[in-house]
Amino acid sequence: MIICSCKGVTKKEILSAIKNGAQSITDIQIKTKASTGCGRCKNVIISMLEKEQTKIFNKNSQLRIKFD
Ligand code: FES
Repeated sequence: MIICSCKGVTKKEILSAIKNGAQSITDIQIKTKASTGCGRCKNVIISMLEKEQTKIFNKNSQLRIKFD
């Protein structure tokens, strides 16, 4: 599924960038070139970033509770 039509960047590529350490829209722009054209996709990418960061935070919190 294409998220950024200007640069042809897919949802999978954006999720991969986040899983590989992208922590901001700027990081995603550098890693994938998404949102470096018209900017129409920026809010969708920010929402994806926030959602994935919440998942990562929750996963890490569960791990901390389990092993502390
Ligand atoms: S749709 Fe992503 S920059 Fe235009």
